[in-house]
Amino acid sequence: MAKIISFSNQKGGVGKTTSCVNIAAQIAKKGKKVLLVDMDPQGNATSGLGISKSKIKRTIYDVVIGNADISDCIIKTAFSNLSVVPANIDLAGAELELYELEEDQNFTKLALDSVRDRFDYIFIDCPPSLGMLTVKALSVSDGVVIPMQCEFYSLEGMSQLFNTVKKIRELYNPGLQVVGILLTMYNGRLTLTGQVVAEIRKYYQEKLFKVPISRTVRLSEAPGYGQPICYHDPYCKGALEYAQVAKELMMRI
Ligand SMILES: Nc1ncnc2c1ncn2[C@@H]1O[C@H](COP(=O)(O)OP(=O)(O)OP(=O)(O)O)[C@@H](O)[C@H]1O
Ligand SMILES: [Mg+2]
Repeated sequence: MAKIISFSNQKGGVGKTTSCVNIAAQIAKKGKKVLLVDMDPQGNATSGLGISKSKIKRTIYDVVIGNADISDCIIKTAFSNLSVVPANIDLAGAELELYELEEDQNFTKLALDSVRDRFDYIFIDCPPSLGMLTVKALSVSDGVVIPMQCEFYSLEGMSQLFNTVKKIRELYNPGLQVVGILLTMYNGRLTLTGQVVAEIRKYYQEKLFKVPISRTVRLSEAPGYGQPICYHDPYCKGALEYAQVAKELMMRI
């Protein structure tokens, strides 16, 4: 049975997709079967894995609104052991449709069960909000990974995110665990970074992944080639750091 892990932070541009794609690819490259579910209407994880958004027929939108079984939406990527359920802008409409629907219907969980025994890990790339799509993802997850930039505003959003996790545990998913907080776009030479990291340590020490992900051009250019970093430049700093985080993640959950 696959472990299901969401990558979530309501703050935008903090490295959710970069972390989800690269950790998924890294673990898949090691021989585990991995499914990445793109739960963001931006479809960044989809294109980052080299899938052209204009060519896909079925997306996670069809699963979310109950028009398709997830098994019919899975696409194999060019990378070993790594499949994806793509997303595109259709999903933006789902958020509204769901609000209308679920006011008078029971909350329905994201239907992943039919494919859970085909994979070792299912990773969900969440959108930058705590709306219905994120709630659906967290409600079926064993754990959540929280990518976070070393900025002052990052800490403000954290308590809100932890509150959401608490609410989801109470309402839908008592087993939801915070797997870890991952520092992204890290630049150890900045004084600000040091101050923010000290602050984060004060509150979340035991949750922090040991290795932060450095800010490097290689990581930002890889999606343009439709490749995870472990294929684009396997020995660059970012690839080695994500490899270490992937290892730690597998030990944690
Ligand atoms: N370690 C890094 N070094 C340099 N650039 C990075 C790094 N991590 C991510 N980026 C770049 O920063 C931008 C935001 O990253 P990403 O898309 O992963 O964040 P996100 O949290 O998924 O964003 P959104 O909230 O829009 O979904 C992207 O252009 C990405 O290529
Ligand atoms: Mg993203």
